[in-house]
Amino acid sequence: MIPTIFAKSLGTSELWVGMFGLLLHFLTSFLRDSWRSTSRRLFVAVVGAIALLQWVIFPAFTQQPVTVKVLVQALEGAQLAPLVERFHRENPDIELDIVEAPNDTNNVEDLYTSAFLLGQSPYDLVYMDIVWVPKFAAAGWLLPLDDRIERAGIDLGKFLQGDVNGGRYRGELYRMPFRSDGGMLYYRTDWLQAVGRQPPATFDELVDVSQELQAQGLTDWGYVWQGKQYEGLSAMFVEVLAGYGAYWVDPDTLDVGLDRSEAIAAVEFLVSTITSGVSPPGVTTYSEEPVRRLFENGRTAFMRNWPYAYSLGQQSAIAGQFAIQPMVRSSQGRSGACQGGWGLGIAKTTAHPDAAWRVAEYFARAETQKQYSLETGYVPSRRELFADPELVAEFSYLPDLLNVIENSVLRPPIAQYSQASDILQRYLSAAFSRTMTPDAAMEAAARETRALLRSAPRAS
Ligand code: GLC
Repeated sequence: MIPTIFAKSLGTSELWVGMFGLLLHFLTSFLRDSWRSTSRRLFVAVVGAIALLQWVIFPAFTQQPVTVKVLVQALEGAQLAPLVERFHRENPDIELDIVEAPNDTNNVEDLYTSAFLLGQSPYDLVYMDIVWVPKFAAAGWLLPLDDRIERAGIDLGKFLQGDVNGGRYRGELYRMPFRSDGGMLYYRTDWLQAVGRQPPATFDELVDVSQELQAQGLTDWGYVWQGKQYEGLSAMFVEVLAGYGAYWVDPDTLDVGLDRSEAIAAVEFLVSTITSGVSPPGVTTYSEEPVRRLFENGRTAFMRNWPYAYSLGQQSAIAGQFAIQPMVRSSQGRSGACQGGWGLGIAKTTAHPDAAWRVAEYFARAETQKQYSLETGYVPSRRELFADPELVAEFSYLPDLLNVIENSVLRPPIAQYSQASDILQRYLSAAFSRTMTPDAAMEAAARETRALLRSAPRAS
């Protein structure tokens, strides 16, 4: 018993503690008395068993896991399966549901965009290309992640800074980096050896070696690249721009450089690969996957692609007969790799932000990224993994790739990025199909981009 005199001088929480002590006291004396008679012992055992079933065993079996939905390109959706299985094993209370989308990044972006515009998005997580962040964040479709990152004690300094910065909008982080990306040049080592040539360093050498290999009858085509009117075209084009010392939009001044002579030279180079027969006429309809298939089928000596194509190539007919290197350049420019990459954001409309965060946090872990890279060849976003002995044994180019990605070329980080990219793609396509000359096409693209940027808010 708690004497009332004490109760008066105690606060509410102390009173609760006192009452709990009293209850415990009655319960233990009841159990002590009950134990003396068999029927009471039986009664206590039955009540105990029911309580155990009701509060411990049933809930464990009947509790439904929380479903967290995310839309992912079909190719990667399938590659993610082992990672998702590991996540489920470690997190049985969360069901991570991967919904498969088409492979072209802007088709996935359109699907997310229409889901958000319709109001209640079915997706809890957003698997985001680096270029969507300003648009999605500016539209208010994502939750900021900084508080969660701080509470989880995650050190963003361990990630590639390009990937972290690409996830920010106006100072807040909206996308947890998962895998990084950078455009590279793939080439056939066996064919170059056959004609005694070194891998090319410049655009001119690329064309020259291609024509030699074609003339020798070793290959149908010299060089294939992403020429279809979609986001992959803009990603590839910023590399050619950098190679000619040109730029699309200066990120500091928002100055548009598309109608400068260096940028027009970049378009002229791509057009010339088609007119000279180094690239097939069909290149203007190719995205990453058709390009990869031509390379794997031995139809081309060079291709521009992302590192994901490396491990897939090693499982193809040309395994061991190709290598990758940084993109070629002209004497006035630098070798450019477009900064790509993917990460997870949390949809503002989700009913399960905590479960969604647990997935994003799991994907960002070093062990997860390492295992995923080993399984798929995708590039991690954690810096230290580029020197990981097991990863380097599998992908010897990783240490060099770190340098390439850390010096990569950005697509303009502006909220109207997808419109700017649409303008560029439209006029590049007009130049490739020769309905416009390269300079007329680039003048029109520059004019429209300037008009767009006059209304564009800055990303950071
Ligand atoms: C890759 C890159 C991405 C880019 C896309 C273009 O997926 O990671 O950033 O936008 O290719 O096709």
